[in-house]
Amino acid sequence: MYTKPMLKEGSLKDQVIVVTGGGSGLGKAMTTYFLELGAHVVITSRNMEKLEKAKIELEEKTGGTVLAVQCDVRNYTEVEAVLQATLDKFGKVDGLLNNAAGNFISPTERLSANAFDTVIDIVLKGSKNCTLAFGKHWIDIKQPKSTILNIVTTYAWTGSAYVVPSATAKAGVLAMTRSLAVEWAKYGIRSNAIAPGPFPTEGAWDRLLPGNLKDKFDMKKKVPVGRVGEHQELANLAAYLMSDFSAYINGEVITIDGGEWLKGAGEFNMLEDVPKEMWDMLEMMIRSKKK
Ligand code: HXC
Ligand code: NAP
Repeated sequence: MYTKPMLKEGSLKDQVIVVTGGGSGLGKAMTTYFLELGAHVVITSRNMEKLEKAKIELEEKTGGTVLAVQCDVRNYTEVEAVLQATLDKFGKVDGLLNNAAGNFISPTERLSANAFDTVIDIVLKGSKNCTLAFGKHWIDIKQPKSTILNIVTTYAWTGSAYVVPSATAKAGVLAMTRSLAVEWAKYGIRSNAIAPGPFPTEGAWDRLLPGNLKDKFDMKKKVPVGRVGEHQELANLAAYLMSDFSAYINGEVITIDGGEWLKGAGEFNMLEDVPKEMWDMLEMMIRSKKK
């Protein structure tokens, strides 16, 4: 059921959506569904060859229209060029999905200043660059409605060891989401975020679970519902938040992680490992203290 598309046909008909990092991984999955729902999508990343391949594949698969534009989100001029290319091709833009990210695991003390900056620059400065360029445009032309959707993670609010630059940057993106939801609502701009739990992709798994870490730390075991996420589940949520069906949702971060972060947080969640037979004995021991 959860691998099935959720919204009705045409839910994003003629919407123009820009997806950063749209040529691979989760960005590509969300792009695919936006196209299936009738949107025109601009995909951007640093690797033009990858984008061109994705464009051909996605247009064939969905019958939609894709514009591929090379852009390093760290560079504001390149971001402005994406906006211009979008307007030249489609005449308008309705939605921005800040999905591009950089990340890798490392003890923080092993990072050079440039390594830390690199992740902050892609995630926080990149999302800021796109948000500012597109937001200014929408405000300038008095577009009645538009949407910004930011992909963060659950450690944007818990923090996480060994991915400190990413956690720091994603926390900033979440703060920006909530701040602009209030400040820019008067211009018809909604800002929301999605915090995904583990959704296997090559980009993330190669950098976060390299080598045999994949087998050592089975991500499924961290998730109360007992599995990792399906790309279509995330695409369903993203399409909903991009569409007018979610017009009253603004400034929200929606977690889609099967309960993963809460399992790590609850004080007594480790009691999950107590076998059923032991509970009789434990109850007896607790009750006996009353006497
Ligand atoms: C320590 C490292 C390093 C590593 C790079 N650096 N990898 N330091 N350990 N493993 C250092 C380099 O030595 C350099 O510092 C600096 O970081 C920049 O490296 P470059 O390779 O020059 O950067 P660049 O080519 O811009 O590549 C950026 C990148 C790369 C982030 C390092 O991994 C990338 O392109 N990532 C994009 C895709 C991605 O990361 N996807 C995963 C998203 S997953 P010096 O000092 O030597 O110059 C995600 C999920 C979160 O966010 C939640 C999961 C549940
Ligand atoms: P991914 O495939 O590595 O996606 C990252 C994308 O960002 C790539 O398309 C990459 O393309 C692009 N990118 C990186 N640096 C860029 C830059 N400087 N300028 C422009 N584009 C850049 O990983 P993913 O798993 O799909 O991640 C997508 C999003 O989901 C990220 O925001 C990530 O933090 C978030 N997320 C993922 C998971 C998960 O379990 N997978 C969990 C929580 C959150 P190029 O390399 O071609 O530039």
